[in-house]
Amino acid sequence: MALRKIVEIGEDCLTKVCRPVTQFNRRLHVLLDDMAETLAEANGAGLAAPQVGVLRRVCLVMDEETEEYIELINPEIIAVKGEQTGLEGCLSVPNKWGIVTRPAWVKVRAQDRDGNWFEAEGEGLTARCFCHEIEHLDGHLYVEHIDHFLSEEELRDYLEREEAEAAGEE
Ligand code: NI
Repeated sequence: MALRKIVEIGEDCLTKVCRPVTQFNRRLHVLLDDMAETLAEANGAGLAAPQVGVLRRVCLVMDEETEEYIELINPEIIAVKGEQTGLEGCLSVPNKWGIVTRPAWVKVRAQDRDGNWFEAEGEGLTARCFCHEIEHLDGHLYVEHIDHFLSEEELRDYLEREEAEAAGEE
């Protein structure tokens, strides 16, 4: 496994529509393993292949429940429910944050590293991440959904409010 370089906003590869994966071979497995290592090193919740310069429909999403990465090849969102509005960031837009509204629950259909189709679903961060990563595969970034990046003060207020809410739920 090897770390790959994460490209940043402004690079062409982040604005392209990625091609489907047709070969479920060793090259794909190396890409997935490298992406997992790169994502873990960056301590992120998700990563899409175009973020490491590969224009293929491949992404990883952290499953909040199992705390493991789900490998998604040629993924599609097949059902959504509800709405959540919350903090979102991207490893390709370092140290910036915005508030984005996404579905509260998302179900996806995708292939695994051997080409077998499966379905996965999630809520909260996992649902947000499914949407965010799959958008990357069509050349879109979350920044298209925000009117501004949070200032340091807004970010601090948001995190404090979230902490207070979490404490209140316990
Ligand atoms: Ni991203």
